[in-house]
Amino acid sequence: MTFAANTINVQSSRLPFGAQYDGRFKGKHILSVSQFDVHDLAYIFDVAEEFRMLVRRIGVMDLLKGYILANLFYEPSTRTSSSFIAAMQRLGGTVIPINEVRYSSVSKGESLPDTVRTLECYADVIVLRHPEVGSAALAAQYARKPIINAGDGIGEHPTQALLDLFTILQERGRIDGLTVTMLGDLKYGRTVHSLAKLLALFRVRLIYVSPKALEMPAELVDALRARGVCQESHTQLEEVLPETDVLYVTRIQQERFADQQEYEQLKDVYSITPQVLRAAKPDLTLMHPLPRLSEISMAVDSDPRAAYFRQMEYGLYVRMALLALVLGKA
Ligand code: NCD
Repeated sequence: MTFAANTINVQSSRLPFGAQYDGRFKGKHILSVSQFDVHDLAYIFDVAEEFRMLVRRIGVMDLLKGYILANLFYEPSTRTSSSFIAAMQRLGGTVIPINEVRYSSVSKGESLPDTVRTLECYADVIVLRHPEVGSAALAAQYARKPIINAGDGIGEHPTQALLDLFTILQERGRIDGLTVTMLGDLKYGRTVHSLAKLLALFRVRLIYVSPKALEMPAELVDALRARGVCQESHTQLEEVLPETDVLYVTRIQQERFADQQEYEQLKDVYSITPQVLRAAKPDLTLMHPLPRLSEISMAVDSDPRAAYFRQMEYGLYVRMALLALVLGKA
């Protein structure tokens, strides 16, 4: 190990060592961050770092030449969908893109298990985004080929959390000892659900800032507390911004609200502006999975602390690593 072994303190793991990596991910589904320990992360990030350098040096490889990815998206996506396509193409593979399920047999009422069993006849790996929690796990029950969860409703978004962690490592050089503040819609935001679970493998302080109605789910907070993770909840960012090392901002998830009036009341509750950032550390890392609405002003984009555009680029390398690993080619 090169990159990640230097930056992830594997001794800080709350999980026992025991990983053997040759082919460890081959043929495996990626459904939840709960399936990873720190040794897995170090390995994935080493591979991602290698791809980062290879993309810079040679652009396109032929590692996955002859392999096909089915990109099956039942919900809108820009970054996740296109970065998986780019990842597969950079590795020399090809893609069946199904971004508009309404033009597929899904619109005729085909079930998810049948759609998945169809696509795996033609593809070697399936990336799935679906509005229902547990959909990726359901698809995996029926699939012989690897399923990669690209977001299952308000459940998890494991590949986003992996790229978020890779971003923190790239930007900060370490995870242990950081104070990470998650801001916005912590109830419906699947990215923060996965990221909090992943950060729980390290010695971090997690601060949640949200309106009362959009707090981090109690089961998740309880599960992390039981593992000894240091967590606190606030409603005002000012209370914690000066102590924050990584500020992870999220969009209020309009599509998840049953009551649109409630959304209207909450949608502009936080807004990061240059003025707000005056109270932040000079070396703050400001992240957002994107898309952003009003929660981060565009005037912030030129601030060197704004890492969200770099974050989406890191996603390409992490997704290249995941594809190569599950196909046994890393
Ligand atoms: C996120 C998602 O889909 O959960 N976007 C992404 O994958 N980068 C965040 C969001 O939609 O707010």
